[in-house]
Amino acid sequence: MAGIDKYELLSDLAKRRGFFWPSFEIYGGVSGYIDLGPLGSKLKRNLEERWLKFFVHRHGFVTITSPVINPEKIFIASGHIEHFKDLIVSCRNCNRHFRADQVITEAMPGRADIATEAMTAKEIDQFVEENHIRCPECGGSLTQSEHFSTMFRTNIGPYGDLLGYGRPEAAQGIFVDFKRVYEVCRERLPIGIAQIGTVMRNEISPRQGPIRLREFTIMELEFFFDPDEPGCEFMERVGNVELPLLLGEERERGSSKIIRLLAPEAAARGYVRNEWSAYFMAVSVEFANSLGIPFEKQRFEEKLVTERSHYSTQTFDHQVWLDRWGWVEIAGHAYRTNFDLSAHIKYSGVDLSIFKPYPTPVEKKVTVVIPNETALGPLLREKTQSVVESLVSAKPEEIRKAFAESGYFEVQGFRVLPSHVRFEERHVRETGKRVVPHVVEPSFGAERIAYATLEHAYTRVSDRVVLRLPIDLAPVQMMVFPLMTKDGLAEVASDVASFLLEQDFDVEYDASGTIGRRYARADEIGVPISITVDYQSLKDGTVTLRDRDTWRQVRNEWRNIPDLMRGFLRGKLAFSELGKSVEVAYE
Ligand code: ATP
Ligand code: GLY
Repeated sequence: MAGIDKYELLSDLAKRRGFFWPSFEIYGGVSGYIDLGPLGSKLKRNLEERWLKFFVHRHGFVTITSPVINPEKIFIASGHIEHFKDLIVSCRNCNRHFRADQVITEAMPGRADIATEAMTAKEIDQFVEENHIRCPECGGSLTQSEHFSTMFRTNIGPYGDLLGYGRPEAAQGIFVDFKRVYEVCRERLPIGIAQIGTVMRNEISPRQGPIRLREFTIMELEFFFDPDEPGCEFMERVGNVELPLLLGEERERGSSKIIRLLAPEAAARGYVRNEWSAYFMAVSVEFANSLGIPFEKQRFEEKLVTERSHYSTQTFDHQVWLDRWGWVEIAGHAYRTNFDLSAHIKYSGVDLSIFKPYPTPVEKKVTVVIPNETALGPLLREKTQSVVESLVSAKPEEIRKAFAESGYFEVQGFRVLPSHVRFEERHVRETGKRVVPHVVEPSFGAERIAYATLEHAYTRVSDRVVLRLPIDLAPVQMMVFPLMTKDGLAEVASDVASFLLEQDFDVEYDASGTIGRRYARADEIGVPISITVDYQSLKDGTVTLRDRDTWRQVRNEWRNIPDLMRGFLRGKLAFSELGKSVEVAYE
């Protein structure tokens, strides 16, 4: 197998057996798109369920579902229109386009010290020139780099009057809905709101199968907390979880030294600036472990200031080692502060802050703004109320400053004049204050993680492929075979398969080819247990159960299988406890 990497082996298996293949295949395909087949779809659903369990359900968090196409306003406010861009270079000879940082990374293998993502256009151009980097496809010379927006643009409605974009992250739907979800969930902080859904990114030159797609499923949690109370109440749960950190300061020195710290320590020592981030990073390790990705194949790379997304004050990429590409990000852990909520407050004019009661009320002298509704009403008509509300919640000193500087204060496009408001000093008893919550975000790509899971499950035992998927993640949990298709064995095997399907297991029936070939096929797609109906089954209702990982067999009555399998899939029963050990008769 020299020269063939796991990506090639897996892509072949994935196509043949139905995990994934290129989309639009019969028309020649379009890069950056894959379809998930019967096994891939099921694996992805199982992964999503697993992610929900780890990040959402265990904490009592909630999920929402919001649209994929959003009006332009959302992404103007979020900063994506301005910032969601990559640097592109093109080949002067073959006219192919490439992401500038990737061309450099590919041309300089083993140079982990070059922070290509952080380079400016000028630095990229200089680097390409000095290092004589050429087109990776034809060796032609490369153009200067330029910015390219990776957002998909479209029109909403028939006449194109409303510009829309495919969302590049699900997070914005959560920020826009924050206030409503907060109210629905009985107005308590902290609150975790998650969304799993399709996102679109017009990636420049995707050539990495499921790793880099133009449409993929994101699994995102936005965790909102009071910045005055940043402590994580669940930290004890991950007290023993180590975080392998590649810190920004090391990277800046050209080093890739990993320091391993327990999650609480990583936060306490300030390496991870926020306790909740450190907590979710630890959950991220547990999640990846549960997918069968070994701990030593994981690390967290701190992004440099120049590499971070515009909304983040600290980001750690959770990376895993893949055979072809080396360290690849499977999740981003970003501390988004109140960046997004503040931006939506500013652009929508709607107050998304929350009211936080004080333990005991406080007496204070304050200036209040009193809008002159008699003057404003005739000018603003139906907009009066919303302008009045914005004025009342605006800061009096800001209104005064605007009056002093420009003679008016602008609210929702309307110029409020000094004659439209008055200021009054009052003694008030404050019962609480308004807070714009802070946010930490773990964000995962489902297809990329599914691929990483498959790659780490891929093993060879002599001449066979055995996909050692975690048993509770396998798309097919049991295969049922008749030893022969004669003498009534097929009918009984088919009854056993139907019985197990009715008990909500993922089961397939297979009667084609020799029993050895059927076991081999089951191993290749990672089926944990294969059940064979043989002549003894006709006499006493027992069947053999074969373990994918040891190829051992036990015997038990097929009626007992549902209870046994539930125990086995939950890790409560070992394979040897599923029945009486038998000699392996067929292999
Ligand atoms: P990259 O640096 O690889 O382009 P990113 O920094 O843009 O990724 P994020 O914006 O943090 O990635 O996205 C969150 C997660 O979504 C990533 O950790 C990854 O799992 C997944 N993801 C991002 N881009 C893609 C893509 N083009 N195809 C498939 N999955 C992706
Ligand atoms: N929500 C994280 C990202 O898409 O960048």
